[in-house]
Amino acid sequence: MNPASQPHQPEPAPGGRARARPERGESPPGQFAALPVRSQPGAAAERAPILIVDDEPHVIASLQRLLRSEPYRVLSATDADEALDIIRQEPVQLVMCDHRMPGMTGTELMEHVKVSRPDVVRIMITGYLDVTAAVEAINKGEVFRFVTKPWDDDEVRLIIRQAVQQHRLLRQNRELVERVNAQNRELRQLTRQLERRVTDRTHEIEQKRDELRASYFSTIQALAAAVEAKDPYTRGHSESVARYASLIARALSVTGNDLEGVRVAGILHDIGKLILDDALLSKTARLEPHEWERIRQHPEVGARILRPALLPWPVVPLVYHHHERYDGSGYPDGLKGNDIPLGARILAVADSFDAMNSDRSYRPRLSQREILRTLEEGAGKLFDPEIVRAFFSLVKKDLISV
Ligand SMILES: [Fe+2]
Repeated sequence: MNPASQPHQPEPAPGGRARARPERGESPPGQFAALPVRSQPGAAAERAPILIVDDEPHVIASLQRLLRSEPYRVLSATDADEALDIIRQEPVQLVMCDHRMPGMTGTELMEHVKVSRPDVVRIMITGYLDVTAAVEAINKGEVFRFVTKPWDDDEVRLIIRQAVQQHRLLRQNRELVERVNAQNRELRQLTRQLERRVTDRTHEIEQKRDELRASYFSTIQALAAAVEAKDPYTRGHSESVARYASLIARALSVTGNDLEGVRVAGILHDIGKLILDDALLSKTARLEPHEWERIRQHPEVGARILRPALLPWPVVPLVYHHHERYDGSGYPDGLKGNDIPLGARILAVADSFDAMNSDRSYRPRLSQREILRTLEEGAGKLFDPEIVRAFFSLVKKDLISV
């Protein structure tokens, strides 16, 4: 430390010997007292403010002289407290500080500056190459450069120029980071708002879709009930066909909208019977050919009724083809095998099973043996064998009771 009472005492050189003459760049003793301490006169406001801190005013004075023609506004302080005051008030870009000072050391001051104003570039002035001081200043104060007394004027000018440039880079970098962070915050906020809107809208759409489906279902059930009301023997038939068809479809890995389509088609498959006379539907005597012809029209009529309804499930082809037979002997188009839509092939099995499993106006319910034999014998002829197999596996698992 250089006590304030002993200004400009030459610092001991390595080896303990004091320097005999003033250092290059320093002022001779006695000339520093009248020099301005805070600011270089005439410095323009836009000049980069730099702060020199040294308890020896002649060091300050010699640096001020050295920097007179440079584009800086040179501020000065003779101790750390004064330096910190200036740093708080001024947009200082660079602090050049003596290592040895009374009170707070140069390293401690640098540490303070590093924490409070990290973009202020720090240069340490040392009396001689003190390795311990250098390591401490680097570790604690993260100094940019060391200037060792006696300094070379050109070298000091260059170091200060580099330091101011370093400050600019740090400031630009900080501004860039702040801008990026602000944009990221804005982006995150926008993303959150967007996500909220998407979630709200999705929820609204799902709610509307559910309401719409519920409304469709009640209409569908009302239509099915209208058909069943024409023939008391078929009461509950639509719901049963829908249930069996859904079980078979699920066993065949049909999912989603297709599965829903099979279920709805099960409810609506005989909707075309609405145009038939009640008497014809409940007739117990043998049907005349023209009566059969009327009955055979119900899949086409059903499809015609449903087509304009634009149901949200693939239902119309299933209703249209539910009387096709696997061997091509069915109606209305006489389609064969896999040309018949899968849902229609499923409906054929479910419809036939429920018809055999319930009393009809023209015959009583068939026995379990008769039903299973009919289905077994019908596989490959009336029905898709794979679907009959799926049906039998459901019976075996007691999911369908005969
Ligand atoms: Fe039918």
